[in-house]
Amino acid sequence: MIEADPRLEGPVQLLRWYADAGVDEAIGEQPINRYVSRGPSQPAAPAPPAQPVPAPIAAAPVSIVRETLPQVPPAVAEGSATHIAQAAHTVAELKAAVESFTGCGLKQFASRTVFADGNPEARIMFIGEAPGADEDRQGLPFVGVSGKLLDRMLGSVGLSRTENAYITNIVFWRPPGNRAPTDEEIAACLPFVQRHIELVDPAVLVFVGGMSAKTLLAKPLGITKLRGRWYEYETPGLSRPIPAMALFHPAYLLRSPQQKRFAWRDLLAIKQKLNETPVV
Ligand code: URA
Repeated sequence: MIEADPRLEGPVQLLRWYADAGVDEAIGEQPINRYVSRGPSQPAAPAPPAQPVPAPIAAAPVSIVRETLPQVPPAVAEGSATHIAQAAHTVAELKAAVESFTGCGLKQFASRTVFADGNPEARIMFIGEAPGADEDRQGLPFVGVSGKLLDRMLGSVGLSRTENAYITNIVFWRPPGNRAPTDEEIAACLPFVQRHIELVDPAVLVFVGGMSAKTLLAKPLGITKLRGRWYEYETPGLSRPIPAMALFHPAYLLRSPQQKRFAWRDLLAIKQKLNETPVV
């Protein structure tokens, strides 16, 4: 015969008493928010008296909005961006123009404008996608985990942002939650990106990731199709086309390390093109 464990007597009697009283489910009348932290010694707040449920109201915007921007229709924003961008005659003027531009909706969610990093006199310019959380905090492109990998990739072919490489993105503000920028947001920034390329006037352009490649080459193809071959990037403000290649994004390489061999091949081709292109 199995003997009753005397330690269970109290809890078992309590459960019997609950059952006799008709309590047959382990849930309360009031929901409890267990995510609200209370100090260890603070008792739970007493449940408020039942109130009539108010009619639902529209949710207030989350308080991360730092600057309320005027609602500029995308076409107007693009048009004025072109004028503002073309009026910049140096990289420093363009940076100031981007910082005061209010035609891209991303700006209102961002902490900082992420314009560029590296040497604007460099013969090679890298254009990535969009700033992430680290970039938003520091105001510089590619400073997070994928940026560290990009630095190692550049280092493997003798390039460095502190010396002979220049880095930017196709949008200058972090999309909330790291979502992909919309077509409108990319279009609003594009005149500045195009002017940026004209002012830096590099010998070789590298599009880092599919979004940057697809946008600047105006080709509706994925990065797997676009990478590894040479294109000619042209804008009216450049006296000659610039050889351009697309590279797998380092964030993708971190997720798919088996693709690094293709990135390595592309980096070697980029370095060779840089060596072959005459200094003008
Ligand atoms: N990814 C990008 O494409 N750009 C950055 O600046 C950071 C991460």
